[in-house]
Amino acid sequence: MRRFLVAGNWKMNGDSRRNRELVAGIVAGLQDSATVEVLVCPPLPYLAAVKSQLSGHSVLLGAQNVSEHAQGAYTGETAAGMLVDVGCSHVIVGHSERRALYGESSNVVASKFRAAADAGLIPVLCVGETLAEREAGQTEVVVGQQLAAVVETCGIAVFGRAVIAYEPVWAIGTGKVASPDEAQAVHRFIRDEIAARDETIAAGVQILYGGSMKGENADGLLSMPDIDGGLIGGASLKAADFLAITKAAQGI
Ligand code: 13P
Repeated sequence: MRRFLVAGNWKMNGDSRRNRELVAGIVAGLQDSATVEVLVCPPLPYLAAVKSQLSGHSVLLGAQNVSEHAQGAYTGETAAGMLVDVGCSHVIVGHSERRALYGESSNVVASKFRAAADAGLIPVLCVGETLAEREAGQTEVVVGQQLAAVVETCGIAVFGRAVIAYEPVWAIGTGKVASPDEAQAVHRFIRDEIAARDETIAAGVQILYGGSMKGENADGLLSMPDIDGGLIGGASLKAADFLAITKAAQGI
């Protein structure tokens, strides 16, 4: 039985004071649950401070990006082993903002995924189509290619310890959420793509939805059979909003 994962991607938001308030609000309001995992992904400079604030709590820590290299002369980059060292269990790779704004190709994303997995991190692989691609009927082609690039580089076995996040680009930060049926169809497609290579891994892999998920729409999305949680942007920046989504997951 898959557990839900409710993950907050804080993106480039917050500061020491606001982070402390946010984490304090989350841990104060969160009810421990055997069926729902909770993850926060703060900006890099705050990982260690958030980790120490999470001490004694079940909330997991993740980063938003990682280098494809293990160490060396890569100014400004962060190795997966360093993320492990400061207490991360997860790292987001291939977010659409990194693909679009920083030119990360599917090959680079695959290398980052492998570096993360090699270091013992759980990669959270983001895939998703733009509005133009959806309107052209290309959703499955685009998502299938993004997934295949990682499977071809890393093999299917690593998905035994990985998370996939379906984030339609047109739903990110727009307030325009995919309907539960629209999202479920793509989640099913992703699980089928994995199942074609390994049915056991497909049955176990968590597939999150991301894109304008909020307390009000979480229940409908999370009730779908192949939606195993959310990767939350805007609504992860206020404890009450984030907790509303964790509560929705706990109620299913
Ligand atoms: P929003 O929830 O703000 O739409 O962001 C989604 C996202 O990009 C999470 O990674």
